[in-house]
Amino acid sequence: MSSILIKNAEIITMNAAEEIVFGDLYIVDDRIVKIGQNLTHKADKVMDASGKTIIPGFIQTHIHLCQTLFRGQADDLELLDWLKQKIWPLEASHDEESIYYSAMLGIGELLQSGTTTVVDMETVNHTEYAFQAIAESGIRALAGKVMMDKGDEVPVPLRENTLKSIQQSADLLEKWHNSDNGRIQYAFCPRFVVSCTEELLKSVRDLSAQYNVRVHTHASENANEILLVERELGMRNVVYLDSIGLANERLILAHCVWLDEEEKRIIKERGVKVSHCPGSNLKLASGVAEIPSLLDQQAFVSLGADGAPCNNNLDMFNEMRLAAIIQKPVHGPTAMNARTVFRMATIGGAKAVGMEKEIGSLEPGKKADLAILNLNDFHVYPSFDIDTISRIVYSATRADVEITIVNGKIVMENRKLKTVDKEM
Ligand code: GUN
Ligand code: FE
Repeated sequence: MSSILIKNAEIITMNAAEEIVFGDLYIVDDRIVKIGQNLTHKADKVMDASGKTIIPGFIQTHIHLCQTLFRGQADDLELLDWLKQKIWPLEASHDEESIYYSAMLGIGELLQSGTTTVVDMETVNHTEYAFQAIAESGIRALAGKVMMDKGDEVPVPLRENTLKSIQQSADLLEKWHNSDNGRIQYAFCPRFVVSCTEELLKSVRDLSAQYNVRVHTHASENANEILLVERELGMRNVVYLDSIGLANERLILAHCVWLDEEEKRIIKERGVKVSHCPGSNLKLASGVAEIPSLLDQQAFVSLGADGAPCNNNLDMFNEMRLAAIIQKPVHGPTAMNARTVFRMATIGGAKAVGMEKEIGSLEPGKKADLAILNLNDFHVYPSFDIDTISRIVYSATRADVEITIVNGKIVMENRKLKTVDKEM
């Protein structure tokens, strides 16, 4: 048994009432046991967090760890050129070692900036080594190998045989799904409609239902991508995915920048989870996703930084700030306020991965996934009353994260990462 007692902190719980309390938080093994005042439990480690703020760890629902090493490549291209000219050839050149280090470096940045869970899409080959990095780092993850069995433009090492792609995915699921006491899960990752046959998508649909695992894909990100799909299939992305039976509560759809009304209706009615990636959508000139209208319909929306070369930044503080700011010129100052985006980054992400009973908020009984922030660089008159969530969304940076805890284990302290002992 291991235990941690964190004392005298401001605790942003994100519980149902979204309470912010001042006091102590007690962790035993992987779970929060108690939040309250003047706790006197004995613990292996007692920390004084006076003047500091504890937040639920961020949950990023769209990341490509295999792309971390490609940052700075193709900085001024739009999606399809960026993929064809740079990203696909680079992914094809990955070997076992480079995938491992790409994942490790990405995870390091994520843990240092308070992200405790990622939904990660790898490349076609060597996904095993990304899982190894995930296992050693201690981050919580739903990861999978990318699937792409169609497309003349895809370089040969990435163009897959349909059955082999499915078999390799099933083998990885068998080995990694629910490993380390559920910290690591499998998610099927058909890349996007452009690169997947109907046969592959139907198999993914069936396997996702059989094992109750997430399907993670891109959709309606870019005008030319949508045109390709419409020309070939006579349908828009989400309508096509729905016709196959993939549009359901297990589907995580990255981007959704250009949805029409029918696609929005399908997303809402089927409980599809949208992963909004504002930084990537701006950088790749994809557009500004109409998130306020999805929220008006009570659709599920969470946040993701996408890959390092899409965004140049894996930091959730950056993503939250952009998500709020880009809507203001069109929708006014409150349409995506600080609390709305902070909710997307925490409990919203937990709903996207189907783990809202386990993560996404700080409550007794939940997994201890959290970050301790020191926001004291924020210079204001001490007497001013500043909303902490607003301060985090608009002003915090990764430099403000002092400690990150996942599953009750300290995985990052003062910028230093700590590997964990796995319980397989
Ligand atoms: N669509 C298909 N593949 C990708 C990718 O790697 N990144 C982004 N942003 N969109 C994609
Ligand atoms: Fe992506």
